[in-house]
Amino acid sequence: MQALDLLINRSSQPRLTAPAPEGMVLENIMQAALRAPDHRCLTPWEFVVCKGNGLHRLGKIFEQSSINSGAEQSVIERASQLPLRAPMVIVAICRYKEDAKVPWIEQIASTACAVHSMQMAALAQGFQGVWRTGSYAQDKIVKVAFDCFDHDEILGFLYVGSSKLKTMPKPARESDKYFTTWE
Ligand SMILES: Cc1cc2nc3c(=O)[nH]c(=O)nc-3n(C[C@H](O)[C@H](O)[C@H](O)COP(=O)(O)O)c2cc1C
Repeated sequence: MQALDLLINRSSQPRLTAPAPEGMVLENIMQAALRAPDHRCLTPWEFVVCKGNGLHRLGKIFEQSSINSGAEQSVIERASQLPLRAPMVIVAICRYKEDAKVPWIEQIASTACAVHSMQMAALAQGFQGVWRTGSYAQDKIVKVAFDCFDHDEILGFLYVGSSKLKTMPKPARESDKYFTTWE
């Protein structure tokens, strides 16, 4: 797949099934994350690749979070099943590193770039994915489960897998609406 085609026409796919990427394909996805732009090379990232039993472990954390927030029984039951919507979920965490020149927002931005890069690397290799946060990325119980300190953030859960479904082409956006040129 051509890089420009990927960037201009990329799409998320929420309906994902096995297989998940593995071997060199997965390594390429991880390497794509590790080439995210990163001011002063702080590498303020940590990624947890959940698959197999790891998905159930993540589901237990979501379940605990929904119990703690006083959710209805149906929501609690659904919470534990959420990670099973894909054969792999990659949790992306920004581990904030105090630095005189690199504020928190830049470290968050770097981690977000890493998530996008992983999704594009998956697509480039014939896999599909969707970046999700739901209410869980910001939830205290979930953040504690991933050892987040005060300034750490969970940027998202990247659901990755396979899909035979064709994503609908999205209407192109008019660049004039979002870009102005100073010359
Ligand atoms: C930080 C972030 C969090 C997101 N969280 C969710 C989410 O929890 N649930 C969801 O359906 N889509 C979420 N999305 C949007 C999807 O990843 C996706 O971009 C959206 O469904 C539009 O599809 P497209 O990427 O094909 O344009 C999130 C996107 C970002 C950047």
